[in-house]
Amino acid sequence: MQIIQTVSDLRKALKSQDSVGFVPTMGNLHAGHIALVEKAKQNANYVVASIFVNPLQFSPTEDLSTYPRTPKADYEKLKAAGCDIVFTPSVLEMYPDFDSKNLNQTMTIDPPPIANVLCGATRLKHFAGVATVVIKLFNIVQPNIAVFGKKDFQQLFIIKEMVRQFNLPIDIIAGETVREANGLALSSRNGYLTDAQRAKAGQLNSALQSIVSQIHNGNKAFIQLEQQTSASLSTQGWEVDYISIRSSKTLQPATTVDRNIIVLGAAKITNKTGGKTRLIDNIELCITD
Ligand code: PAJ
Repeated sequence: MQIIQTVSDLRKALKSQDSVGFVPTMGNLHAGHIALVEKAKQNANYVVASIFVNPLQFSPTEDLSTYPRTPKADYEKLKAAGCDIVFTPSVLEMYPDFDSKNLNQTMTIDPPPIANVLCGATRLKHFAGVATVVIKLFNIVQPNIAVFGKKDFQQLFIIKEMVRQFNLPIDIIAGETVREANGLALSSRNGYLTDAQRAKAGQLNSALQSIVSQIHNGNKAFIQLEQQTSASLSTQGWEVDYISIRSSKTLQPATTVDRNIIVLGAAKITNKTGGKTRLIDNIELCITD
């Protein structure tokens, strides 16, 4: 496996490849990321993963400086998964016009209003930052396929829209969410939690599962379900950001005629340092009756 830091070296290394699969990440890799690399290998001959903690997608109050960076362990995992190249650019390699005091010279993607709800409602400009780094990485790697996790469903949705609306010749493949035994979705941010807090964190998935069973039992009072679940998580000590039942096709609030539904949640739990860690999860369901 080659470790490459610059755009020009990457372009040289990829020159003769005509079936390239790509998995963008921010590192601190876990089994969820590795499952995406394996999926890329099944769908392309040559696999590139990137590790880049993208400053554009963090707001000033978020964890950019403390975001876990574990390059050596990441390389081992990627190599074992059969990854061919890991691309680990510096901030200046990705954003030559980046100036932390004045971002004005960096050209960014302006996503549609669907980027301003759910996670985008509190993480202002987050999806603009994600879309900008992803389109840059797509232009640099020029993959045939790229794999993204369903765990970040809104991100996956916005990337698919970007590819469709900007006519990018890339197939976006979705990877299933990899979870711990208690249902907790694997996330680099789970590292901020103690074992006991990780055990408790399974409550978010249980809460979403409970909504799914109630919908399967014919309950279509979506707003009431959202409110009851938020209230119950709050009683269990969570600071709920949103619990939302939406159409998985459009990501708009679900209506009673929708068949393809997604139940999404974001909530904060107390972490190791006594601060709060924000976790997200979602479950898709299909109403068949
Ligand atoms: P990161 O959080 O490192 O995630 C990289 C990829 O792994 C994303 O596609 C994400 O959805 C997927 N992923 C994370 N946890 C997962 C899990 N438990 N199961 C399956 N897949 C999982 O998402 C980002 O980085 C960034 O926003 C990025 C797209 C790299 C742009 O900077």
